Amino acid sequence: MIFDTHCHYDDEKYDNDRDELIKSMEKEGVRHFVNVSADKDSVDKTLEILEKYPQSYGALGIHPSEIRGLTDADMENIKEKALSNDRIVAIGEIGLDYWEEGPDKDSQAFWFRRQLALAREVNKPVIIHSRDAVQDTYDILMEEKAGELGGVIHCFSASAEMAERYVKKGFYIGIGGVITFKNAKKLQEVAEKTPLDRIVLETDCPYLAPTPYRGKRNYSGYLTFVAEKLAEIKGVTTEEVYNATYENALKLYRIKDGDIR
Ligand code: NI
Repeated sequence: MIFDTHCHYDDEKYDNDRDELIKSMEKEGVRHFVNVSADKDSVDKTLEILEKYPQSYGALGIHPSEIRGLTDADMENIKEKALSNDRIVAIGEIGLDYWEEGPDKDSQAFWFRRQLALAREVNKPVIIHSRDAVQDTYDILMEEKAGELGGVIHCFSASAEMAERYVKKGFYIGIGGVITFKNAKKLQEVAEKTPLDRIVLETDCPYLAPTPYRGKRNYSGYLTFVAEKLAEIKGVTTEEVYNATYENALKLYRIKDGDIR
């Protein structure tokens, strides 16, 4: 069974075939997925996804590139929604993104810390987005003692040494389609050195489709390619990868067996 720990099925790229696609995923072994919000609009859309698809879970939070104009009232709104729906399993995605010209670093740090505090208020783990901001992300997470909340470093792109530091603090490492790319030596080394019981599968769909669909629209069914690559690197069967990462996802998001729909 596959648990996709990070998806964006509210994206307009799915507007024409969302129902069929999500239905078809079950046949490919995808039992659960977490729809992750990135801006205020997708917070509401994530709640609609939960309403519609009983196998889904959700995460609420604002991506660092989308923080312009945020207010404390927005935080209160997310807090209320996170507390009133038990299938909201995390706060995210939140973090730092220095890749493109975006909001200034101080504002990003402010809303990152503010949402880590929010996660503490609602007692949920965090989904961390970090792009070209390795050290600052780590420093803020440590200063805010985010290891106590737990969470996942989504679409992990730092070094194996950094992965080890995160694992020691109780975080999971999110691995997706990038691992199948020819030039992904660094991430393949992370996968090799990180214990299988700390790795979770994720698509970040519609983005980051694995080889042989690189550049196309991604979806959870393609995680089979990610699991096969991971199995090859770890020297285990694909079945073992499915089972381990499924269990890891339940632990990461604190989902008990009895909660499984
Ligand atoms: Ni994402």
